[in-house]
Amino acid sequence: MVSVIKKMVDPKGLVDRRIFVDPDIYKQELEQIFGRCWLFVGHESHVPKPNDFFGSYMGEDPILLTGDGKGKLHAFLNMCRHRGNRICRADAGNAPSFMCTYHGWTFATDGKLVGVPGYKEAYFEELDRSQWGLVEAKVDSYKGMVFATWDAQAPSLDTYLGNMKWYLDLHLDRREGGSEMLDIEPDPSGLSVPALESLGLTRRQAEALRWIALGRRGPDAARLMGLSPRTVEKHLQAAYAKLGVANSSQAAATAWAAVGVRLPEA
Ligand code: FES
Repeated sequence: MVSVIKKMVDPKGLVDRRIFVDPDIYKQELEQIFGRCWLFVGHESHVPKPNDFFGSYMGEDPILLTGDGKGKLHAFLNMCRHRGNRICRADAGNAPSFMCTYHGWTFATDGKLVGVPGYKEAYFEELDRSQWGLVEAKVDSYKGMVFATWDAQAPSLDTYLGNMKWYLDLHLDRREGGSEMLDIEPDPSGLSVPALESLGLTRRQAEALRWIALGRRGPDAARLMGLSPRTVEKHLQAAYAKLGVANSSQAAATAWAAVGVRLPEA
């Protein structure tokens, strides 16, 4: 398979488009990359309180990131050990345990099997519950970002990230206080041109700023407005001057603040 894949990548940088769609290559990726590597699964601020949980994925496997109440993070396969049902169908929340809706097996946030209906009558107390806890991935975090791997022999996360930590620090360690995941989904319809005009901008300035605040780049905004990039840039510069901001991200933050949305700090 490796030799087949090698032939699909030209040393000059051209790649065969089959690498994006071939089911056999995808299967190999799931096994050799997603089944072994450290994967980003969430952020510590997703589960700040004891018994918080957050649903995520490792490859195609649904997992539950939990805080067990003793300060320990866990990443579990979201699958009952009895007949394989999902034990949690919510995206996130807080719960001391997860009860499978199929036959009622119940698991604590540390993964232990803590409840089995019919334990006496059906299993005659012979089921060793300690052997039937949730399947757990190895988990660790780096400056708030939580990673997990199914490979028990994987190197430590610190070793795995290696020099990449320098680049992560550029984003994660720029200010005191660390990083935090904010649940912000600004509603684009709230960022109306009239709302931006109320900041003292002309209609064209407001239109240009709206596209920038919605994440478009200058040339995109120009195309959408039917103007030349140079003209749009002039409107933007005039808008920045009126708002007293120095760049597009400050302008975007100001625009969203005008409609009551606070963006995460850059
Ligand atoms: S499948 Fe979960 S209790 Fe049976």
